[in-house]
Amino acid sequence: MRLKDKVAIVTGGARGIGEGVARCLAAEGARIALIDIDGEEVEKTAKTFGGATIGIGADASDEAQVRAATEQAVARFGGVDILVNNAGGGGQLAIGGIGNPFTNVTQEGWDDWLAVNLRTTFAATKAAIPHLQKRGGGSIVNISSIAALMPSLAIPAYAAAKAGVLSLTKTLALELAEHNIRVNAICPGLLWTRAWEMMATMMKMAVPKYADMEPRGIFLDIVKRSVPLGREQTPEDIGKLVVMLSSADGENITGQAISVDGGITLRVGVI
Ligand SMILES: NC(=O)c1ccc[n+]([C@@H]2O[C@H](COP(=O)([O-])OP(=O)(O)OC[C@H]3O[C@@H](n4cnc5c(N)ncnc54)[C@H](O)[C@@H]3O)[C@@H](O)[C@H]2O)c1
Repeated sequence: MRLKDKVAIVTGGARGIGEGVARCLAAEGARIALIDIDGEEVEKTAKTFGGATIGIGADASDEAQVRAATEQAVARFGGVDILVNNAGGGGQLAIGGIGNPFTNVTQEGWDDWLAVNLRTTFAATKAAIPHLQKRGGGSIVNISSIAALMPSLAIPAYAAAKAGVLSLTKTLALELAEHNIRVNAICPGLLWTRAWEMMATMMKMAVPKYADMEPRGIFLDIVKRSVPLGREQTPEDIGKLVVMLSSADGENITGQAISVDGGITLRVGVI
């Protein structure tokens, strides 16, 4: 029980990586507030955890909403020790289509990707910092992506936003060190969540060689071709690292970005 008596906030916690990370934190004794823009789903998910987890519907890219959600978590659990900035993925207006390059990205789409993938981290972090300070320290883990580490022809705004998350991670690590708040990032590789299900469904329509394949098969084909360790990553793979970084095991680690990608980034590439 490495996180006994700790309180964690996980944004985007209704499903996928956020839910998996939260389950790993809960298994180590943390009490958890899941914040998600999908209010109905996040409440359902929280119920499956049992008593020490609450689900709060809020848009993490909206400063006022995420502050109110954070205050709700503090009112319920008495403080905050860990923030996992996980909310992200495809913006509502963003998808120009797989294979569509930067020149096809609209300003509206660009702003949407940046809001979902970078402003969420800004807003939730601002809301949490005073509470982490009150506890005398804590851990922030930002979920970036391997897309931050290489050029991206398919999803340039997403990649730029996730690279922004890595920059912010380093700046915050330095600024918050005197408060004993550590800030690190994780770059996940390929996980079969709703996000990849949507992407593979679009690839089926846009890429002729995938026309006759099911989305899951397309995803597994990409995994086979790009992951040296030969398997997809899971939310638990990410959650185990969040636990390590947020527990005493990670007490001297800050400002780092760690890829959990089965070695994908060892192969120089473009996504
Ligand atoms: N799936 C992958 O292969 C992969 C790879 C690298 C990085 N990531 C990152 O991991 C994170 C989680 O992705 P996932 O694959 O679990 O996706 P997902 O779509 O399954 O889950 C994302 C969750 O975030 C929530 N969300 C979106 N915008 C929000 C907002 N403004 N405020 C609050 N909640 C919001 C969604 O409602 C959803 O529940 C994202 O930041 C994503 O970019 C995913």
